[in-house]
Amino acid sequence: MPQIKFLLDEKDLPTRWYNIQADLPQPLPPVIHPGTLQPIGPADLAPLFPMEIIKQEVSQERWIDIPEPVRDVYRQWRPTPLYRARRLEQALDTPARIYYKWEGVSPAGSHKPNTAVAQAYYNKQEGVRRLTTETGAGQWGSALAFACQAFDLECKVYMVRVSYDQKPYRRLMMECWGARVLPSPSTDTRAGRAVLAKDPSSPGSLGIAISEAVEEAVQREDTKYSLGSVLNHVLMHQTVIGLEARLQLEQAGERPDVLVGCIGGGSNFGGFAFPFLADKLAGRRKDLRVVAVEPQACPSLTKGAYVYDFGDTGQMTPLVKMYTLGHSFIPAPIHAGGLRYHGMAPLVCALYDQKVIEAVAVHQNPTFEAALTFARAEGFLPAPEAAHAIRTVIDEALRCKQSGERKVIAFNFCGHGHFDLSAYERYLGGKLEDYEYPTEKVKEALAGLPRVGG
Ligand SMILES: Cc1ncc(COP(=O)(O)O)c(C=O)c1O
Repeated sequence: MPQIKFLLDEKDLPTRWYNIQADLPQPLPPVIHPGTLQPIGPADLAPLFPMEIIKQEVSQERWIDIPEPVRDVYRQWRPTPLYRARRLEQALDTPARIYYKWEGVSPAGSHKPNTAVAQAYYNKQEGVRRLTTETGAGQWGSALAFACQAFDLECKVYMVRVSYDQKPYRRLMMECWGARVLPSPSTDTRAGRAVLAKDPSSPGSLGIAISEAVEEAVQREDTKYSLGSVLNHVLMHQTVIGLEARLQLEQAGERPDVLVGCIGGGSNFGGFAFPFLADKLAGRRKDLRVVAVEPQACPSLTKGAYVYDFGDTGQMTPLVKMYTLGHSFIPAPIHAGGLRYHGMAPLVCALYDQKVIEAVAVHQNPTFEAALTFARAEGFLPAPEAAHAIRTVIDEALRCKQSGERKVIAFNFCGHGHFDLSAYERYLGGKLEDYEYPTEKVKEALAGLPRVGG
């Protein structure tokens, strides 16, 4: 009988995060100030983030120590298990061996606390009293609410309107951990009021919610902003996932052929894949395939342009070079709320541009079909975001069935779907829509991009 769970001891919890910036073939393009069009410096970011986070954002050190109080909170649920999906393998009748790293065991139910806890800690250390943030699916907001509770900080969450309406229980979870939650666009900020003036029934987007949270942080001395994805330090904090998974796959005696993760802003994918990519970048694992999966309704890597753009709709953030659909693009209200972001982590974009990683886009209905295949075999009910990775894993495993290849496929199972049951209800009732790629809307949004250099 094959072993099912590969578990690590608490003493195996990583002591350092891996910073892939040290190993990139070329350094990342600079982040640009939208006013001066010059590279920004630490002072430009100081109203938003504590200094330690700003240092981490630009650090070229390969390893960064995880502070003991952060590891102490991590120990509440880490190391997380790695599973062999042998029942799924049987259901698919595939010769492939499938493994998943299960991040849904965290208090908030996803990978998001890995960075939330670190960010709350550094803010507390530097005397910050309150944090603002945005949330899509509610996973990030609940992770930050939990982390703020752990370090005694106030937390205010701007939750994308469509998710606020679809997921009342996520909001309640945040409130249980003491956070204040508003639907975004809201009337609390200038950015929110501007959107509402144009479209009072706006479904919101991550881009709009970011503008609101940033605006409030900039205006208040006691408040800073916390971002749940996209930025280099966030992806680095998530590397605890891949560092553990590497040890666990070694324990299983396996060498992965294909790694898969879904991408919203790129953090669970980066956190899982980067520690393995270190080998590929060093030339030791040239054959390793790493696949990022995004929704067809918001296909930033597969259909976006690699240019400088704002991280938010209200143009409050600096300009970053990324694959983007345009900061004014508002994705269709798919149930994977955490994947409705117009841009992508610059680190993921650079690796895609340099053809180190691949990307695919999948539709909503086949994604839920894959989620149910998985849930009926393995038991765990995936978050709609995680189901995107599962769709691609199943497709890879079925290709192995055709070819007879015994590939080792590993994916990051980044969260459970216990608060996404209304989406499952719609799928089971045949009511889920597949949204075609909105060519015209993206063209319009891309036409409004700032012009920076070449
Ligand atoms: C469960 C889950 N997976 C994935 C994502 C996408 O974010 P990222 O690409 O940063 O992992 C989210 C975002 O909210 C999420 O909640």
